[in-house]
Amino acid sequence: MAIPSLQTLKGLDLPAVGFGTYKLNGASGVNTINSALNVGYRLIDTAFNYENEGAVGEAVRRSSIPREQIIISSKLPGRHHHYDEALTTIQESLYRAGLDYYDLYLIHWPNPKENLYVEAWQALITAQKLGLVREIGVSNFLPEHIDRLITETGVIPAVNQIELHPYFSELQLREYDQQKHIITLAWSPLGRASSVLKDPIIAGIAAEVQRSISQVILRWEFQLGVLPIPKSNHTARQIENLNLFDFELSEAQMQTITNLDRPNGRLQNQDPAEYEEF
Ligand SMILES: NC(=O)c1ccc[n+]([C@@H]2O[C@H](COP(=O)([O-])OP(=O)(O)OC[C@H]3O[C@@H](n4cnc5c(N)ncnc54)[C@H](OP(=O)(O)O)[C@@H]3O)[C@@H](O)[C@H]2O)c1
Repeated sequence: MAIPSLQTLKGLDLPAVGFGTYKLNGASGVNTINSALNVGYRLIDTAFNYENEGAVGEAVRRSSIPREQIIISSKLPGRHHHYDEALTTIQESLYRAGLDYYDLYLIHWPNPKENLYVEAWQALITAQKLGLVREIGVSNFLPEHIDRLITETGVIPAVNQIELHPYFSELQLREYDQQKHIITLAWSPLGRASSVLKDPIIAGIAAEVQRSISQVILRWEFQLGVLPIPKSNHTARQIENLNLFDFELSEAQMQTITNLDRPNGRLQNQDPAEYEEF
């Protein structure tokens, strides 16, 4: 079944579900990412810090899918937020992948205590002007960080990739993104296979719609207007996680899952106002 798409403010179509690649490295990583492409994923998420941009590029080259049909997204690490370093890091990201351009490039974390994310954003704006990246966005940014980017540069991020799963559903941040026409991407959309994948309430809904718990969670995210990027090493699960578009959750089922939200529902307490990653 065809994957619907979500369009960025500037008109780039993103498939409504993508593939995460954290911890997919080396030859086995290439095989896993290649399998994801073969079963139909057309959005691949990587990062400079995953040290697998090379594996992503290799998997793309080994597939028979034309490059222009694949959205490839990477991220700038926190240790390279200074303008000049950010630009050379984006170039290095491309060399690592063996690609001429990325479709999306994000600032991985705002690292607010360093207070350099506006400078990093200016480098992403330049990279876009140079044609190194088609669209630019952010990850783990709170409204206050995005407001500053917009005030100081006038450029709105295309996407904001944030932690989001049934125990941490980010209502306010989703509403903020929506109001600014920023597409929200969900990282760890399956809660990184934590207890959420055994949640009895979601299991009950899964039985009602005759789908797996993973499919119900990913469908809930899709119906919220969020773009999930699940990762799986297994081809059967990769297929399962793509088959989301021939069933629907009722409003009541959606609300039941949204009600599972917990104030301290983050997997590893990575609050972007405090947490920093380099
Ligand atoms: N921007 C950021 O700061 C940030 C942070 C974290 C992650 N990310 C991105 O988000 C992507 C996804 O997040 P994630 O990898 O943390 O976690 P996730 O996608 O929520 O969960 C992955 C885990 O779920 C299992 N799984 C996948 N599909 C399943 C299914 N259908 N049934 C049962 N288990 C299933 C996988 O096991 P198997 O592999 O064994 O199938 C794996 O253990 C990452 O790969 C990365 O690209 C971004």
